[in-house]
Amino acid sequence: MQKQVSIGLLGFGVVGSGVVKMIENHREELSQKLGCDVTVKHILVRDKEKQRDLPLHSPKLTTDPAEVLNDPDIDIIVEVMGGIEEARKHIRHALQNKKHVVTANKDLIALHGQELLEVASENHCDLFYEASVGGGIPVLRGLTDGLISDRIQEVMGIVNGTTNYILTKMDEDHVSFDKALGDAQNLGFAEADPTADIEGLDAARKMAILSRLAFSMNVELDDVETSGITDIALKDLEYGNQLGYVMKLIGFAKKENGSIEISVQPTFFDKKHPLAGVKNEYNAVYIKGEAVGETMFYGPGAGSMPTATAVVSDIMAVVKNMLLGITGKSNLIAGLDKEITPDERRFAKFYVRLHVKDKAGVFASISQLFHDKEISFERIIQRPASKNQLAEVILVTHQTSLANFQTTLEQLQEMESLESIQSYYRVEGVEKND
Ligand code: NAP
Ligand code: HSE
Repeated sequence: MQKQVSIGLLGFGVVGSGVVKMIENHREELSQKLGCDVTVKHILVRDKEKQRDLPLHSPKLTTDPAEVLNDPDIDIIVEVMGGIEEARKHIRHALQNKKHVVTANKDLIALHGQELLEVASENHCDLFYEASVGGGIPVLRGLTDGLISDRIQEVMGIVNGTTNYILTKMDEDHVSFDKALGDAQNLGFAEADPTADIEGLDAARKMAILSRLAFSMNVELDDVETSGITDIALKDLEYGNQLGYVMKLIGFAKKENGSIEISVQPTFFDKKHPLAGVKNEYNAVYIKGEAVGETMFYGPGAGSMPTATAVVSDIMAVVKNMLLGITGKSNLIAGLDKEITPDERRFAKFYVRLHVKDKAGVFASISQLFHDKEISFERIIQRPASKNQLAEVILVTHQTSLANFQTTLEQLQEMESLESIQSYYRVEGVEKND
């Protein structure tokens, strides 16, 4: 039986240094749980001269990928360097050299996961990526192990810590978007370029990965309709509060009658909904299965040690498979045909904020338009707008199809009494079928 497993690490930043620290600090437990030792042999970095906190039994730092990828002693490559093309090239190289791979790289897995899983299986290697979604929360294993027996109907989650942190700070402490984003960057949650966080792309990548596993379909990034939080006004958060809602950037994936809808969008949640209480950088994924009903996975979605937990657990899963001689057998490649639900069959409630001319009969004409489209209102607020002669109207609709709602907005734009549609957001309630 193998007595030692050697790791080659690609990257020694926030996540990589956490992985090294965890393997050092948990050495005895790992050895006892696995029946063999795990050591990090080489670490690939960009800059060898950088000041770093190195562990006692320091692995060798290198800037030459071949030194790590071609070392015959290395069994598992852990890719925590980020980026797409270079990481993809190194992972393919590692798999072709019969080395197992663990990665935290959601950008890469969202774009090229299927291809890399195929290369892994062809080479009888494992490719695991638990840390790519939800940091330290074992949500991918929740889908692929714990809930594998069920038919998953819905996956809805707060899967980006940075945006959840920003929205919490704007809502509760009334700080500006820029200040909250700066704080998230200083705390290490945000990506080096936070555009992917705030524009919703990071969450879209995670939703593509989650949906692939939940529905066994080859979901691609383009299948995820995506909008971010950059345009959210403090005013909408305030009105949301009055209505008993809280705003979250939500990934939403649903399978109904064989077709799927996937989106990432700012969504108002009833404060009684379990996802409404998820604050700051925390993530949570709510999964609904036909047999199990409602489940929720909650925890830290980013950061050095939480993410390292997922990476080291993946390493341990590989080592167990190595010891059992079954590597390459548990790479789940999504195989079902994919069908995307058309807007006519996607249903939701919506919040809309309008500026209208402040004169008699205006509200009646707006109501008539919604009535003609068979959209009824659940809540209405009317206030004088800050600009002269205008009123601000906030409507919350009952359920309607996305197609019907969009046509209604287009017709609203043409009304003479409408000044502007200021904003509109999906609303998620707590009651069943609301
Ligand atoms: P990071 O702090 O920027 O660290 C990146 C590391 O990779 C650095 O050590 C860097 O070397 C090295 N590196 C980057 N490009 C390289 C290249 N071309 N050649 C050699 N070395 C290179 O990044 P991170 O936050 O640890 O994130 C790593 C991965 O984990 C990313 O895919 C990220 O999306 C994912 N992830 C991060 C978190 C989180 O909370 N941070 C959570 C989940 C997933 P130098 O040190 O020499 O610059
Ligand atoms: N920038 C990401 C987030 C890091 O804020 O969730 C974890 O993937």
